[in-house]
Amino acid sequence: MKVLIISGTPKREGLSCSCEEAALAGVISAGAEGEVIKLCDYNLTRCAMCGDGWGTCRDKHTCIYGDDGFNEIQSKLAEADLLILNTPVYWGDMTEIMKAFFDRFRRCEAFKGSESALADKNVLLIASPGGSGNGLISCLEQMERVCRHLSAKIYDFIGVNRWNREYKLAAIKAAAASMVKSIS
Ligand SMILES: Cc1cc2nc3c(=O)[nH]c(=O)nc-3n(C[C@H](O)[C@H](O)[C@H](O)COP(=O)(O)O)c2cc1C
Repeated sequence: MKVLIISGTPKREGLSCSCEEAALAGVISAGAEGEVIKLCDYNLTRCAMCGDGWGTCRDKHTCIYGDDGFNEIQSKLAEADLLILNTPVYWGDMTEIMKAFFDRFRRCEAFKGSESALADKNVLLIASPGGSGNGLISCLEQMERVCRHLSAKIYDFIGVNRWNREYKLAAIKAAAASMVKSIS
C-alpha cells in the first residue's frame, strides 16, 4: 500500500517538518510505503486561467504547463492509496505553493467523477500555525473544501501548534497508522 504525503512547507526543519516526519513514521509503523513530496522542491507555476477561464484541464483533465512537475505529482496522486496533506498556516490558509498546486489539480480532477484521482480516497489533513495560533480553522476549512471538490474522504483534521506539539505529533503518527490499517 502506498501513502503519499504532500508537504507545503518551504523549510527543512521546524514544526511543519516534524508533522511530516510523524506522519511518515505512522505510515511505516503500520506497514505501508510512504513517500513525501515537498512541493518546494519543484518549480511549479500557477494556474494561468487559460482561454476564457478553462483550458485543457476541463475536458482533457491535464494542464498544458504540466511539464513543470505537475504531471508527475498528478500521476503519483492517482496511484496512491491514501493521502496526507501537511502545511504550515500562512495567512490563515495553506501555503501559497500548496494552494497553487491544488488550484491546478482541482481543475484537472474535479470533473472526472468517480475516476478522479482522489475519489473516495481517505485523506488526513494537518495544519500547523505559528506563534499566534491564529488561522488554523480557516486553513483546515480551505483544505477541506479542496477535498470536497475532489470527492475525497477526510479521515481526520489535525491542528498542531507550539504548545500542543508533543501530544499532537503523537496523534499524527497514530492517525496515519490508523488510516493505513483502515484499508489494510
Ligand atoms: C507568510 C507567512 C504567513 C503566516 N501566517 C500565519 C498565520 O496566519 N497564523 C499563524 O499562526 N502563523 C502564521 N505564520 C507562521 C507559520 O504558520 C509557522 O511558521 C508555523 O508554525 C509552522 O512552523 P514552522 O515554520 O516551524 O514549520 C505565517 C508564516 C509566514 C511565513
